[in-house]
Amino acid sequence: MDKDVLDQGVFFALQEPKYVLNPYSLYRRLRSEAPFHWDFVLCGWFLTRYADVRAALADPRLTTKSFSFDVSQLPPALQDGLAPFGRVKKREVLYNDPPEHDRLRRPLNRAFNPAAFERVLPKMEAVAHELLAGAERRQSMDVVSDYSELLADYMIGELLGLPPANRAKFIEWCNRLKKLTTARRMGYETVLIATEAVKSFEAVRAYVRTMIIARRENFSEDVIGRSLAVEPNETPLSEDEVLANCVFFLHAGARNMSASITNALLALLRHPEQFARLREEPQLIATALEELLRYETPVQVAIRGILEEIEFAGRRIGPKQLLVLLLGAANRDPKQFADPDRLDLTRRPNHHVSFGVGPHGCVGGWMARFGLAIAIEAILHRQTELRLTPRKLRWNPATMRRTVRELPVLVNRRVHDSQRSKLNVARAHLPRPTRVAETPILFSR
Ligand code: HEM
Repeated sequence: MDKDVLDQGVFFALQEPKYVLNPYSLYRRLRSEAPFHWDFVLCGWFLTRYADVRAALADPRLTTKSFSFDVSQLPPALQDGLAPFGRVKKREVLYNDPPEHDRLRRPLNRAFNPAAFERVLPKMEAVAHELLAGAERRQSMDVVSDYSELLADYMIGELLGLPPANRAKFIEWCNRLKKLTTARRMGYETVLIATEAVKSFEAVRAYVRTMIIARRENFSEDVIGRSLAVEPNETPLSEDEVLANCVFFLHAGARNMSASITNALLALLRHPEQFARLREEPQLIATALEELLRYETPVQVAIRGILEEIEFAGRRIGPKQLLVLLLGAANRDPKQFADPDRLDLTRRPNHHVSFGVGPHGCVGGWMARFGLAIAIEAILHRQTELRLTPRKLRWNPATMRRTVRELPVLVNRRVHDSQRSKLNVARAHLPRPTRVAETPILFSR
């Protein structure tokens, strides 16, 4: 390990090819040598120990507010064009503290509730089978673009109640907006991306406005309809708030779900003995899901701000500083997880932080678990055999969403009818969400 990696700034180090490929050795060093590490690039403290990360996620003194969407390096006309998008971004539940956070979160708990997803579940299963059947015929697929992303896009379309003919266009608008929020703020390319984003924002906002009007007239079971249905004494979500939370956050969440599916399949393919065991004992699916989410965590970073000087983990930390919580590092902390670098599909308990915890814990956590279960179960059920190709994988840096950009595999189908009965057993073992809760974790563990 380079002597200076910590001095050069962890944020920069995480962009280096070797840590993009595998950030875990750097995390290990941070956890043991510098669990509270000052990074001059982000002006923030990097936290890597499970106990510290979990405590920070749940700490009400920390804020998620004021992470503004910075367009100051773009030409003034584009800044003006993007201002409405910036205002909508600020309405995202994640960027609000209580009591505003609670007001925004309540309708989302209702909108993303088990019933909404149960409605979508069988259709998603059918789509997973259809995608796999196509891959079996072609004998190959890119897991990312031919499977994970299509399943996630299908989920968005169904949850929003988008007519099938408009789905591709709608998701493309959201993708273009997402591209802007993750683009580097320099170069002419960013100007082009921003120009497209302005058009996409106007298009998506106009479309969602018509959806809201229709749902105000007639109740609809989809997430927009459910989020608009207010309880007595509740202030209803505004149009911008529906857009921010039901559309943009659903889109971002679905990209996380797609990354979870890809990462889970890659981990299984790299651990063929574990994959074989899951095929043999599909009732392991419940613990397997949690372990796959822990092992290669898609969202590796959560950020918190500090409003006034506080004492945290025995240190005084001041305002204008950030806490950069490395969820992926916490999920590999040996003090919490025995032999943390080993994939163990039977691991229990497994209180990973892949969905965050505390007030900002993921509202779509159980939905994402089901999406992941469907994606894996379809492969088990069809007896689809996947094999990695020798192509070198390109990872995103951990500071973005940690996943590979493509995952080409060879595909075959092994049909053994004797296995089918076991698969029905697996379905019975899949944890079901039981209630609409204020807390993100709906499964008993
Ligand atoms: C259907 C898919 C998803 C939806 C709709 C969704 C939605 C959300 C929302 C609305 C929040 C903010 C909650 C709040 O501030 O109260 C959130 C937080 C979070 N989500 Fe998701 N999510 C989805 C999937 C995922 C997946 C698959 C992952 C990763 C495995 C993930 C990881 C997280 C994390 C780590 C947080 C906490 C961030 C923080 O505390 O800073 N989400 N999610």
